[in-house]
Amino acid sequence: MTETTVYDLVILGGGSGGYACALRASQLGLSVVLVEKDKVGGTCLHQGCIPTKALLHAAEVADAAKDSDQFGVKATFDGIDMQAVNTYKDGVVARLYKGLGGLVKSRGVTTVSGEGRLVAPDSVQVGDTVYRGRNVVLATGSVPKSLPGLEPDGARVLTSDHALRLDYVPRSAIVLGGGVIGVEFASVWCSFGAEVTIVEALPHLVPAEDEALSKQLERAFRKRGISFELGARFAGVEETTTGVKVSLENGKTVEADILLVAVGRGPVSSGLGYEEAGVAMERGFVLVDDHCRTNVPHVYAVGDLIPTLQLAHVGFQEGILVAEQIAGLDPRPIDYAGVPRVTYSEPEVASVGLTEAEARERHGDAVTTVTYDLAGNGKSQILKTAGQVKLVALTDGPVLGVHLVGSRVGELLAEGQLIYNWEAYADDVASLVHAHPTQSEAMGEAHLALAGKPLHAHS
Ligand code: NAI
Repeated sequence: MTETTVYDLVILGGGSGGYACALRASQLGLSVVLVEKDKVGGTCLHQGCIPTKALLHAAEVADAAKDSDQFGVKATFDGIDMQAVNTYKDGVVARLYKGLGGLVKSRGVTTVSGEGRLVAPDSVQVGDTVYRGRNVVLATGSVPKSLPGLEPDGARVLTSDHALRLDYVPRSAIVLGGGVIGVEFASVWCSFGAEVTIVEALPHLVPAEDEALSKQLERAFRKRGISFELGARFAGVEETTTGVKVSLENGKTVEADILLVAVGRGPVSSGLGYEEAGVAMERGFVLVDDHCRTNVPHVYAVGDLIPTLQLAHVGFQEGILVAEQIAGLDPRPIDYAGVPRVTYSEPEVASVGLTEAEARERHGDAVTTVTYDLAGNGKSQILKTAGQVKLVALTDGPVLGVHLVGSRVGELLAEGQLIYNWEAYADDVASLVHAHPTQSEAMGEAHLALAGKPLHAHS
């Protein structure tokens, strides 16, 4: 066994949380070892955000070709060449991966390839080498979950990892789970020409969102021909000669070529020595305080491994928070309600802050809401998208939540995030000029209405 010199940080896992921590720590002059068993970049770059958004962009191009008539453009849609779509998607990932590798190297981070294990609170073992750190950061991420008795085989029953590697477009697909992953894949496959049915146990698609957004998404999906069974729990699946037959607890059955299981992602923590080192855990998640500190001194955890929002940008911020703390700075804890959330389906769903239901639970009748329909927004009409901006605010107080649905509205959330996080009042935003014609005007209009002086809105 070889023992290394003692580093300031040993980071186990090179995904969004781990590598962001490494970059910020080295920027602050700390010595860092980053241990990764697969590829630096993790789920986000290789199996999540980036490749799925490439598929969604290809889907948007397909829709544009199919709908070209509506804009007076003569084009024909001849179908999807899935090999070529994958080449495009993999090319995007490869370029970003190369850039990230160069960045990590240029910052002087020591990267170790191999599977690491926490063998003591200050030590991570990889093969025959033990890397010792004054601080250890656990960042081993998450993997797709399944249900008891439902074993994805990669052929007929897929996880999102399998779905990303499909080299054909299914004729039909059942998507189990109407959360973010389920809705995004349903959107892609529908654009690519598949018949899609989503099965969701809760009463709405994207059930964590404000109900108004869920309903609008359901309307849009219905119009696109995507079917869904809401409030329907999965009972079982059997293989048929052509695909799968899924039965639901309500007695219905649905048949399709494939089944995508998108019922959440679970932490990667078993067999890695965390419990043996005394790290407190719950349901496989590592427990932390608001500074991402575990119960063991100098052991931190970030990203999908801890029970906070499983989003790449949350992982980045948690990694940065830990690096800055270790460097002796005094970073502020993250306000998780202030984290922007976007589902990149067609239409997109985007939100920050509290839903109306959450706001009413906390503030009762002191809550007011305004909904501005994208029907009144020029650019949205040019794009032929339906949707809305919904604001939740304290009466005579700051905006508590910004909730958007419609094509491309994810980009509007940058402003929504400032509004929520800087605790803006309706008047603060109403007096700002928004460029015309942009979708961002809908944000301005919604705040004008909230301030009691609607312009392009029927009162
Ligand atoms: P999720 O938690 O968002 O959705 C899973 C859905 O499956 C839930 O709505 C749940 O009610 C449903 N479900 C669970 N058991 C069921 C059953 N037996 N029958 C029917 N429905 C059932 O998890 P998802 O979509 O797998 O995503 C995992 C994580 O990845 C999420 O935290 C998500 O935020 C993140 N992610 C974020 C993306 C983004 O920001 N655009 C994109 C993709 C994933």
